[in-house]
Amino acid sequence: MLLRLKQLASLLDGQTDWLANCANFSAFIFQEIPQLNWAGFYRLQGDELVLGPFQGKVACSRLKRGKGVCWAAAEKGQTVLVPNVHVFPGHIACDSASQSEIVVPVVVQGKLWGVLDIDSPVKNRFTQQEQDFLEQAVQILVQSSQF
Ligand code: SME
Repeated sequence: MLLRLKQLASLLDGQTDWLANCANFSAFIFQEIPQLNWAGFYRLQGDELVLGPFQGKVACSRLKRGKGVCWAAAEKGQTVLVPNVHVFPGHIACDSASQSEIVVPVVVQGKLWGVLDIDSPVKNRFTQQEQDFLEQAVQILVQSSQF
């Protein structure tokens, strides 16, 4: 995990453009973490989360406030780990293959910028250790980028 964080830091090193960094970040996560079917960003725009850079199948462009895992994480300002999406009330299935999901808020200078959303076709895919890794990875992204 530490090696992956170092690889991520060097991937983003010298580039501050948020779009370039979010694009490479999502590709890195999708390449390096096994058993994923989607990894990417939704950006807060008013009362909606709007699709940003991602890897995986085409996804919902806009998520309306109050429903789904992404909005749960956005409203709490905390990571939401869902071992089985089928028992999460209001889960939005952009890809019917998704079985488990983790969403990490992206907070820039104390304000919610958006969320990192990761889906897996395997139930119980994400561990506390991976949650810690992803939260640290998001910290690296935020520190490296101008949003
Ligand atoms: N499952 C998310 C929607 C986004 S897709 O997974 C890419 C949710 O419930 O908010």
